[in-house]
Amino acid sequence: MEKLTVALPKGRLFDQTIEILKKSKILFEDINQNTRKLILESENFRFLVVRAKDVPVYVENGIADVGVAGDDVLIETNPDVYKPLDLKIGYCNLVVAGKPEDMDFYFSNPATLDVATKYPKITSQFFSDKGINVRIFELYGSVELAPLLGLARFIVDIVETGTTLRENGLVVIDTIRPSTAKLIVNRGSYKLKSDKIFPLIEKIENYLRGQT
Ligand code: PRP
Repeated sequence: MEKLTVALPKGRLFDQTIEILKKSKILFEDINQNTRKLILESENFRFLVVRAKDVPVYVENGIADVGVAGDDVLIETNPDVYKPLDLKIGYCNLVVAGKPEDMDFYFSNPATLDVATKYPKITSQFFSDKGINVRIFELYGSVELAPLLGLARFIVDIVETGTTLRENGLVVIDTIRPSTAKLIVNRGSYKLKSDKIFPLIEKIENYLRGQT
């Protein structure tokens, strides 16, 4: 039987998604991401372990049938995929953060701000709506370093527990929007593999309904 291919972001969302699949009675085996293997197989699924921002690339291009991606990634990359379900995991906020002593400057109607981020499109849209020019420094991780080292006074990033900001002496200065993880589905797979994908969506929906 042909397996569904599922692209999952490594890290927190991976384990939470596996848990949902198990509790929804779709997956019956343990899937352990603590290996260097990038393709993990169960009886009915092939899981691709990818970077969060890469999940929509694999799903949009049909390499994966389904995937899990946060609103942060979906708004930033705007992929042409179906988004049938909010999985109600990966709750976080997209925020502007910086050193506490830079808060007054942020709110002083500056003409230009320097911002480091993994989300250049979201950042540029947010500040353009406020009528503020922004100089964006695109980074790929550990964004919190930028204000500490003087690359940019501010960052736009996601905050989940707040630990990373706190441990680096930074604070939330402005909130852009909340974000949760969505199930995303390749448009072709949605039609051609509906015999597998519809029951998957229905079972997850039923499980999530029982949770609320
Ligand atoms: C994300 C994000 C923050 C951190 C926030 O980074 O970019 O750095 O998590 O989480 P917290 O509020 O619970 O501390 P990630 O762990 O994905 O690593 P990265 O910096 O390499 O992108």
